[in-house]
Amino acid sequence: MNIEIVGVIGAGVMGVGVAQNLAQSGFQVVLVDVSTSILEHARQEITNNVRFQGFFTKDKNPLSPEQVLERILFTTDYQALKTVDYVVENVIEKWPVKQEVYTLLDAICPPTAIFAANTSAISITRIGSATQRADKVIGMHFMNPVPMKSMVEVIRGFHTSEETIEASRSFLQRMGKSCVVVNDSPGFVSNRVLMLTVNEAIFLVHEQVAKAEEVDRIFKNCFGHKMGPLETADLIGLDTILYSLDVLYESFNDSKFRPCPLLKKMVDAGLHGRKSGRGFYDYPI
Ligand code: NAI
Repeated sequence: MNIEIVGVIGAGVMGVGVAQNLAQSGFQVVLVDVSTSILEHARQEITNNVRFQGFFTKDKNPLSPEQVLERILFTTDYQALKTVDYVVENVIEKWPVKQEVYTLLDAICPPTAIFAANTSAISITRIGSATQRADKVIGMHFMNPVPMKSMVEVIRGFHTSEETIEASRSFLQRMGKSCVVVNDSPGFVSNRVLMLTVNEAIFLVHEQVAKAEEVDRIFKNCFGHKMGPLETADLIGLDTILYSLDVLYESFNDSKFRPCPLLKKMVDAGLHGRKSGRGFYDYPI
């Protein structure tokens, strides 16, 4: 399958990283979000990231922010997706929003296009059911920040075909990434474990057993983790953590996934972590 034009839906934390990584890898990108101000912010983020991270093509030539940006069409118009070969969807972790987006994508994109869902916890089989092409729907759980992470968790939905898996594997290879393919289950492997760990770490702060920084220091200095669970939560986005726990709670009907009241309070207060400038720690924005 020849993949040249890729639709990237959602220009938040993940969509920006995916679009940048794709453009740097030589794909043409159509980046769609709901407002021009979000897209303008995305353009700025990509400019800063390319400058900061630096990027060299295979023949060792440096790529400037302008060269990366000229491969990306920033638009609020879903009709611009009429000619895409492949889609990576990164809208917020809420089923009603994703459901509406997939119905739209299914109606607009060519019938041959594959849809890769970048979701933290929503079942890929459920996402496939919102389309008439469940065999071409796959889970692609990228890590954050996308251009810096070389491994992707790929999820096989109930109807995902082997052709879709193979095309997605080579697509990721062109992005400079390898993958582990797992079967579908809410939260997959990574977030079924990570979300519980993060939530429990938040409970420890909520119950005043330890301060955020102390919890993180234990994980870093005792276990050798690069980041503690609360730094990780801030990086992911506390809203995304809350929505993912909600999905896990509803999917398994298991109280072990109930979100900590402190997490809910922080999200209500607008403390969404790094992207908002404040979470368990403060960040310059
Ligand atoms: P975010 O909140 O930073 O960005 C979501 C974007 O989706 C926003 O810009 C929003 O305007 C846009 N959006 C909402 N409705 C839309 C629509 N109908 N059409 C187009 N765009 C729309 O969220 P983030 O962190 O980028 O997460 C996106 C997805 O990736 C979620 O499903 C999340 O669970 C998943 N994910 C997040 C990771 C993280 O570390 N933040 C890691 C891996 C997956």
